[in-house]
Amino acid sequence: MTDKPLLRVRGLTKHFPVRQGLRATGLVRAVDGLDFDVRPGETLGLVGESGCGKTTTGRMLVRLLEPTSGSIEFDGRDITHAGRRELRPLRQELQIIFQDPYASLNPRHTVGRIVAMPLQVNGIKPPGGIKARVQELLELVGLNPEHYNRYPHEFSGGQRQRIGIARALALRPKLIVADEPVSALDVSIQAQVVNLLRDLQRELGLAFVFIAHDLAVVRHFCQRVAVMYLGRIVEIGDRADIYERPQHPYTRALLSAIPDVTQLGPAGRIRLTGDVPTPLDPPSGCRFRTRCWKAQDICATEEPALIPRDGGRQATACHFPEGEGAGTSPEGEAAGTSPEPVAAGSVAEATVSGVEPAGRGAEANVEEVSS
Ligand SMILES: Nc1ncnc2c1ncn2[C@@H]1O[C@H](COP(=O)(O)OP(=O)(O)OP(=O)(O)O)[C@@H](O)[C@H]1O
Ligand code: SF4
Ligand SMILES: [Mg+2]
Repeated sequence: MTDKPLLRVRGLTKHFPVRQGLRATGLVRAVDGLDFDVRPGETLGLVGESGCGKTTTGRMLVRLLEPTSGSIEFDGRDITHAGRRELRPLRQELQIIFQDPYASLNPRHTVGRIVAMPLQVNGIKPPGGIKARVQELLELVGLNPEHYNRYPHEFSGGQRQRIGIARALALRPKLIVADEPVSALDVSIQAQVVNLLRDLQRELGLAFVFIAHDLAVVRHFCQRVAVMYLGRIVEIGDRADIYERPQHPYTRALLSAIPDVTQLGPAGRIRLTGDVPTPLDPPSGCRFRTRCWKAQDICATEEPALIPRDGGRQATACHFPEGEGAGTSPEGEAAGTSPEPVAAGSVAEATVSGVEPAGRGAEANVEEVSS
């Protein structure tokens, strides 16, 4: 893997105007200034709660959405505002896999036609002919090449997602944006499809931006992870650092919800309460402050920058990251004591109180739940 990024994103922003009639009445700040790189052959996971801007980001990367500002460089070329003609050669190198394997395949087209479409649209004539190439692709994704003439409804959900993957691979891309590629599938099928993607990634040296809200899946597939909250990246780093040494309180809360993450200690789960604020009117300063047990006055007035820590491998946007200064856990801060191990199976559910987030009352916004 070279250090030169294949994808370089700086200040990427998408604001959707809200209109009443002809009048613009506000802006949905769906994505608000993202910076990240993806190196060739690298898998970057993009995680966060529903509505934090993952899909909007993915669609801007493959230029299905026009960014409001910022820049996207792909393989050294600025594609931020590339038009249809400029994008045409790039379409071969930059592909997307959609979440819904039912809606993303045309039900009136045979599988052969669906997978062949990118080749035909781009005027590509493979040496052995289109049919042979399509059958090769079907085999590559674990489908029977003889099923070339079947229609999408004749396949299961997992098989349909394999068809979508074959279509994305048809042009031998360098980067695939996969937007929740397994979340519409049964749990038993999810692992098969993720393993397929991982094998293909290794075999073909593909880079991925892998969008998911399931952190267990991301841990399995991604080498690096970016955690998003309300349109911003709050933490980014290598998988081991993010999963074993999360520095942002939000990352910590997300990870604590995965049952088998034990490295966070015996303190148990952190259950975030309260709704995600609206991107129409995000909180001042740190956007996470209305749900953060560590918030202090500065969090309401100064937006924390995404600052590299640990020699630059991991970057965190927090005034009081974990491991720096007092109060590195919700339970420790709240009670002023070390957390006691709680017997497995007990339902000790303690609401953390005594931590007063900026701009709110003494009301708790984090619950500790034993696991
Ligand atoms: N076309 C649009 N017009 C206005 N607002 C939009 C539009 N598309 C997305 N949004 C808003 O932008 C925010 C981010 O949406 P997005 O779909 O990117 O979130 P997401 O992280 O992919 O969520 P999920 O996990 O539910 O798929 C949401 O508040 C959403 O309502
Ligand atoms: S401590 Fe402050 S800056 Fe850090 S996540 Fe909490 S509210 Fe944001
Ligand atoms: Mg989405």
